[in-house]
Amino acid sequence: MEREISNEFGMMRGVLTALALILAAACAEPGGGADPPETEAQGQETADNEEINLDVWLERLEVGSRELYSARHAVVAAVGLKPGDWIADVGSGTGLYTLLFADEVGPTGRVFAEDIEPLFLDLINRRVADTDHSNVTAVLGREADVTLPKESIDIVFIADTYHYFNDRETIMRTVYDALKPGGSLILVEFEITPGEEKPDYKSHVRFGKAGVVSEIEFIGFEFVEEVDVDGLKDNYFVRFAKPAAE
Ligand SMILES: C[S@@+](CC[C@H](N)C(=O)[O-])C[C@H]1O[C@@H](n2cnc3c(N)ncnc32)[C@H](O)[C@@H]1O
Repeated sequence: MEREISNEFGMMRGVLTALALILAAACAEPGGGADPPETEAQGQETADNEEINLDVWLERLEVGSRELYSARHAVVAAVGLKPGDWIADVGSGTGLYTLLFADEVGPTGRVFAEDIEPLFLDLINRRVADTDHSNVTAVLGREADVTLPKESIDIVFIADTYHYFNDRETIMRTVYDALKPGGSLILVEFEITPGEEKPDYKSHVRFGKAGVVSEIEFIGFEFVEEVDVDGLKDNYFVRFAKPAAE
């Protein structure tokens, strides 16, 4: 198994290192002191060490200076899972939220960790095995398709990912289809203030909350609420519902 993963790492390494460095830089929040200097990471790209990209991501996404990490337990509480729920963590990355959700939904529930990046799914599978979670399914999505079974999911959770979607309308229609009638969609996203100069770590975020909410409503979701989550200052947390079946 390790050998297969290593081979896959080897094939993908060049492309993924570039992707990881671009996205990790984009995801960095202020004060991310644990980040290795990019020059060091780039230097190690050629050192035949397939793990380095994931190390960069882990240090960027699972570091106390990132509020989606430091406030993770408050975010999970705001999601409001109950045992037996099926939740999809779309754009699951390193699995930060996937693993927390797996504890919440318990053995009768299921977490679908969906991402377009196979390396992240390999990492999640290893973390799931290491922590004895048997209720997580890794799902390799496509750029504009979450590839989840139709009307199967109670809650779709999308954190720090919506602004990466290239074709937001198409992928969000697949999210809509995957949710059960009456199911919930939760988005956690960087807020930007119109007209205000964006700091570097948000330079890749092109639209603010009002635009996102109207795009999601256009798909057919109903806006339910914005939740004030303890510890989130730079990100907003909004909940939508897919209308219940008539
Ligand atoms: C900044 S990371 C966020 C990871 C995780 N949600 C978190 O908050 O820790 C963004 C993730 O979105 C994924 N991503 C980008 N485009 C995607 C798409 N079209 N479908 C699914 N995942 C995507 C990336 O591969 C990456 O894992």
